[in-house]
Parts: sequence; structure tokens; C-alpha cells
Amino acid sequence: MKTLVEFIAEKQSEFPYATGELTRLLNDIGIAAKLVNREVNKAGLVDINGYFGQQNIQGEEQKKLDVFANECFLKAMKHGGMVCAVASEENDEIYTYENAVSKSGKYVVAMDPLDGSSNIEVNVPIGTIFSIYRRKSSSGAGNLEDLLQCGKDQVAAGYIIYGSSTMLVYTTGHGVNGFTLDLSVGIFLLSHPEMTFPEGGNIYSINEANYIYFQEGVKQYIKYCQQDDPATNRPYTTRYIGSLVSDFHRNLIRGGIYIYPGTFKNPHGKLRLLYECNPVAFLAEQAGGKASTGFERILDIQPSHIHQRVPFFVGTKHMVEKAEEFMREYSPENK
Ligand code: AHG
Ligand code: MN
Ligand code: MN
Repeated sequence: MKTLVEFIAEKQSEFPYATGELTRLLNDIGIAAKLVNREVNKAGLVDINGYFGQQNIQGEEQKKLDVFANECFLKAMKHGGMVCAVASEENDEIYTYENAVSKSGKYVVAMDPLDGSSNIEVNVPIGTIFSIYRRKSSSGAGNLEDLLQCGKDQVAAGYIIYGSSTMLVYTTGHGVNGFTLDLSVGIFLLSHPEMTFPEGGNIYSINEANYIYFQEGVKQYIKYCQQDDPATNRPYTTRYIGSLVSDFHRNLIRGGIYIYPGTFKNPHGKLRLLYECNPVAFLAEQAGGKASTGFERILDIQPSHIHQRVPFFVGTKHMVEKAEEFMREYSPENK
């Protein structure tokens, strides 16, 4: 079977300006993923032992898993020196690498080191999401402008899902491939080549508890999902884990739509453009799906802030298009 390292090396030739740096960076992300996976698997035990939030025997504060994951990925990316700056959910400002090697790194990364982290205690799959761009500045430490790029300019993106098995799924703009971690040898193996959304699709994933705050278009789309129409496979079925990575991963394999809309309370929704929506949107499009705010393509948005939020509709193309129809039809501007 093909390993992640072999696969990435083979694909290097698909890049016009390939120097091996992106290959190295993806491999380093794979290594950090294995370290995080090890800690995620120990989470239950650590809890029983009462470790987190307390001091360990050396007097060090035990790290929460999302802080641990953040440090792990930041360190892994420092090592190879390909990355000059990182925007992370866990850091208010952009994180810049000040060492000389990293300053000459060609890439910047946006990441959510641990997505769905509120699910750790209950043993529900969680994930890591990453998005990679070429830097815009020519030298020195990376800057904000390097990170505030449109999603369509991503050179690579992916996620790791720490679930019943651990998988790394990524794209460099030439389709989507998934690798499963074989724990006995500690290697990611190509298990899901050329992933695409299946035809059809009948899953809708949305936190319906927020129903009363949804815009009319979202409410009407939910009603549409619940109607009886065997010809279009309705009523659809609801699946909502509350971990974007897990919800998206399931919908990619089974066919479905994930929605985190804007609400009257939070018009921009909850999910962050740079390190949640853009990478997942890039993967979705590469797998034949679609991602939008309900009105416009996610990958076309020019970000203005690293932690900016946007409404998010992502999944099987025809399902996202149908939801967009409802959003347009019931938009307040049409009244
Ligand atoms: P994070 O743990 O990185 O803050 O992200 C959680 C996100 C996302 O993974 C999930 O789909 C969404 O929050 C769930 O939100 P609700 O609990 O509001 O449904
Ligand atoms: Mn998240
Ligand atoms: Mn997170």
C-alpha cells in the first residue's frame, strides 16, 4: 500500500515551481498529526488521573489538548523552515517565526489545531484543519497581508480526523485523497484515493436548536429537507455531531450538506473563514461539491481579519445549490 510520504513525493511534480518544500511541509503536518493523535487517545486516561488543569510532578502546568495541539503543529512547522507565519485559532495575533531559516520560508499556514474540542470529554471525533498559501511578501518574517489571502489562492488544505480511526485528508488542487493511520506501524496509508461526493445525498447537518434565530431561507430549506418526496429521496436524514471535521467527513463519504448559517444574534455565523471554512471549501470543491455563504462562493471572499466569521453551507453540490435557492428566494432584499 502507498504511504502518505510516498504519495506526497510522487505528486510533487504536479507543481510548476516544486522545490520539495511543500512536500516537506505536508510531511511535517503528518508527523504532528501522529503526536496529537497519541495525546487525543490518552485523553480519557489523563482525565481519570486528574492531570489536566493541574501541575505535574515537575511542577509544570498540564496543557489542555487544544493548546498542546497548537504547540505541536507550530513546532513541527518550525522544524523544516518552510513556513514564515501562522494564523491559528489559538493565537489572537499571527504567529511569526523569527529564526533565519523560517524567515526564508515560502509558505504561510492558517489552522484550527483542534476542531470540536468541546467533544473531547465525550469521546466524539475531533479534528485538525489546515490551509496553506504561498507568502506574498518577499522576505523577513511573514505578515498579516500574507495571511489575508482569498481562499481560491490556497495551494493546499486538509484535515485530520481523530475518530474510530485517524485519517488525514488533503488536497493540493488535484483532487482529494485520504490516508488512514495504521497504528501498528505508525504510518498513514492511502485508503481513500480520489475522494468525491457520491451522487444523491440525503444528510443535512445543522444545529437546529438555533431554529428560531435562523433567517427565513434557512427555515424554509429545513422544511424542504423534511418533506415527503420519494423521487428526491426526501425526507432527508439529520446527522449533527458538532465537530465540523467529523460532520464534513461523513457528508463527503455519504453525501450531504453541512450548514452553520448566520443568525439574527450572530449574522456572520460561528465558523472562521481562514482556518475552518476556506480549507473545507477547497476540499469540497475538489471533491465535486460546493461551499458558499448561502449567497456567494466562500473561496472568493477577501478576508479582512484572521478570525473573521462567515455563514457556511458546504457539501454535495446540488444540495448546496438548493439551499442557496431558498436563501435567495427568502432574502429580505426580495421583499
Ligand atoms: P472549535 O472547537 O474549533 O471552537 O470549533 C467548534 C465548531 C465546529 O467544529 C462545530 O461544527 C461547531 O463549532 C458546533 O457549534 P454548535 O455547538 O454551535 O452547534
Ligand atoms: Mn473549530
Ligand atoms: Mn479549535
